[in-house]
Amino acid sequence: MRIGSNNLEGDRSDIWSASQPVTGSAGCSSVRPVSEALEHLSRQLLAAVDDSLVSVPQADLFIGLSERLRALPPPRSVRAQTLPVVDEWLAAAVAAAPEPWSDLAHALLAASSRLPWLMAYENLDPSPGLEAFQRHYSFALLAGPSFRGHQPPQIDDQMIAGFSIQAPQVLYPPHHHAPPELYGIISGAVEWQIGDTWTLKGAGDTAIHRAHESHAMRSVGQPVLTWVCWPHGAASHVYMPSLDPPNSSMAPISY
Ligand SMILES: [Fe+2]
Repeated sequence: MRIGSNNLEGDRSDIWSASQPVTGSAGCSSVRPVSEALEHLSRQLLAAVDDSLVSVPQADLFIGLSERLRALPPPRSVRAQTLPVVDEWLAAAVAAAPEPWSDLAHALLAASSRLPWLMAYENLDPSPGLEAFQRHYSFALLAGPSFRGHQPPQIDDQMIAGFSIQAPQVLYPPHHHAPPELYGIISGAVEWQIGDTWTLKGAGDTAIHRAHESHAMRSVGQPVLTWVCWPHGAASHVYMPSLDPPNSSMAPISY
């Protein structure tokens, strides 16, 4: 389904919604025991974010992020799913993660079967350019609002914190959004475009995107594993002009 509006904050029918109840894989409404693997992953992600915020430029864009992560409710078991790109590449990306990011990588692998790994931009009309990306990329939120029937283990209406896996030789097309964004690369090598500048990044590097600053990621010879945070604006649209028809470029799409 395409959200076909040229209004930047127009049709919001397919954006994040935190109103759905937590359900387990069997569809029951009872809350399952807290997952030790998810708790460990949450702690590891917080440590990675704290470490990055000490040294990143423009850290003022992410004031309060660590506090929001610490204030999240404990992770709960949710309906999980995997995708072929995760099954094919996650273990290899984790094995390639160097110290000290190996601990976070292994925490993600241990918790992976408890996360909802999703395909990106399912609301866009099919196209060869989109499919070339979609089949080779997945993201999983540890924290954030409910999204298309999937709940992350830690519900939060405002912020997003999660992970992505991108197969080798894949372009995540240029896109932008209002909330600032902080990425940390856990494993792999990736050419990262911010504005008009391409930079080769690897494990331990970070990437910061300011409001509506275009960015793209092209993986090189290895799968790329990242963590990613939006400190606020979880319900914001993502814009991917190259995959919109010419007469509706900038049409809002939900992440
Ligand atoms: Fe982004």
